[in-house]
Amino acid sequence: MDRIVVLDFGGQYSHLISRRIRELGTYCEVLPCDTPIEELRRIPDLKGLILSGGAASVYEKDSPKCDERIFGLGIPVLGICYGHQLIAHLRGGKVVRGESGEYGVTEFKVTKKSKLFEGLKGKERVWMNHRDVVRELPEGFEVIGSTDHSPIAAFEGKNVYGVQFHPEVSHTPNGMKILENFLSICKARRAWSMRDFAKRTISDLRERLKGKRAIIALSGGVDSSTAAILVSKAIGKDLVAVYVDTGLMREEDREFVEKVFSKFDLKLRIVDAKERFFNALKGVTDPEEKRRAIGKLFVEIFEEMAREEGAEVLVQGTIYSDRIESGITKYSSRIKSHHNVAGLPRELNLELCEPLKDLYKDEVRRLAKELGLPDEIIKRHVFPGPGLAIRVVGEVTPEKVEIVRKASYIVEEELKKAGLYDGVWMAFAVLLPIKSVGVQGDERSYKHPIVVRIVESRDAMTANFFRVPYEVLERISTRITNEISQVNRVLYDISNKPPATMEWE
Ligand code: XMP
Repeated sequence: MDRIVVLDFGGQYSHLISRRIRELGTYCEVLPCDTPIEELRRIPDLKGLILSGGAASVYEKDSPKCDERIFGLGIPVLGICYGHQLIAHLRGGKVVRGESGEYGVTEFKVTKKSKLFEGLKGKERVWMNHRDVVRELPEGFEVIGSTDHSPIAAFEGKNVYGVQFHPEVSHTPNGMKILENFLSICKARRAWSMRDFAKRTISDLRERLKGKRAIIALSGGVDSSTAAILVSKAIGKDLVAVYVDTGLMREEDREFVEKVFSKFDLKLRIVDAKERFFNALKGVTDPEEKRRAIGKLFVEIFEEMAREEGAEVLVQGTIYSDRIESGITKYSSRIKSHHNVAGLPRELNLELCEPLKDLYKDEVRRLAKELGLPDEIIKRHVFPGPGLAIRVVGEVTPEKVEIVRKASYIVEEELKKAGLYDGVWMAFAVLLPIKSVGVQGDERSYKHPIVVRIVESRDAMTANFFRVPYEVLERISTRITNEISQVNRVLYDISNKPPATMEWE
């Protein structure tokens, strides 16, 4: 399986580049920019390198760099934005701070014939996002394109290319053509498929985990389910999947997980820890403290399980967007201090194995399908690690969790009936710690309100509230107040993210 590697200098779009290359049919993964050269040499079928963008300036002492020996690997190298400047800098050219920045869509002129721009017109619209510019080219390099602001907006050297703009974003209409040309330059075969990825990953995992026992927290979400099946196909019963019944899960969740995984050759352990979780949450009202309490208990339970099972490896279904939200890629700026990744903090004294870490959600879904997971899992909405505890605003009690659980079930069921479930990111209920007056059966009531939250999102980074048809909202509202005796009022959350988040806590 031919591969391209993106070396990540902390750019916002580093992973988008890898995704685009995969869309073009060649397998691509992202590695830290300072990946040792020996490691790169060991990658089988490595056909080309792409140096990503990044926020730093190449001439600063501490800015991220890569090993200069990458130019001696005998494979084509393409630099994008920071990567473009870095190539110039490392090869003896000059990069300086531009007089002004160049941001947004810009007109770019192809000034010299190059394989990189084959099939392009003389003038192209490209998307720019930079302040520094390449002022002088290294020896043996030629300019192949420019903009008004950047005379050296693209260059070519021997087996090396650089573009100041971002071909990977959709604002560069012919960006995919440029990436496709780069793949041709690399002579990379474009025959990658999810099936190959599954096969290759399983065989890599078998090699890596040989003779070790592993454990995974299986929540029944698509990520952990896919990771569990992938690893179990590699090491069989040496993987133990643990489903922790926290008491904070969705309606009939445990039964659902048992039913789905009974069809797979997976060693599944169910741990009933409801009491422990509710005890740990007693008196806790602060959202972060809730997460900490839950995380801590998860770790405790996991340590117990790992000890009992003699596991030394922890498998997690972390996907790419979990990592970017947590600011985990080495040089990216931290967007916000997010929740623990994939529901489990990293303090466990176990070797970490994250086979999905470079995949986007829709790619994980495709992989899940390839592995034979049912649609019920593949299309299931995501669910936060801390579960319903962060949907009960204020103190969490079993009674309050039960209210939210029932209400969420109604929201989901009505959306499914209306054929809207698959089109939204998440749909759930939140219980507020206040009460309001109502009238039911000629009597005054004083009860909690439920907030219904339904959001659309592509990648969890941003979200819009979903424009639910009023009839559906009304059915949801009526059912919630009819079927849940502790509720007399239903609200619909019309906030987008940002400024709100999807969850209330
Ligand atoms: P927010 O509320 O940050 O949520 O807009 C974005 C996505 O992340 C999920 N989420 C969590 N997942 N642990 C998790 O594993 C958490 O602590 C957590 N908080 C939010 C949320 O459900 C949504 O899909």
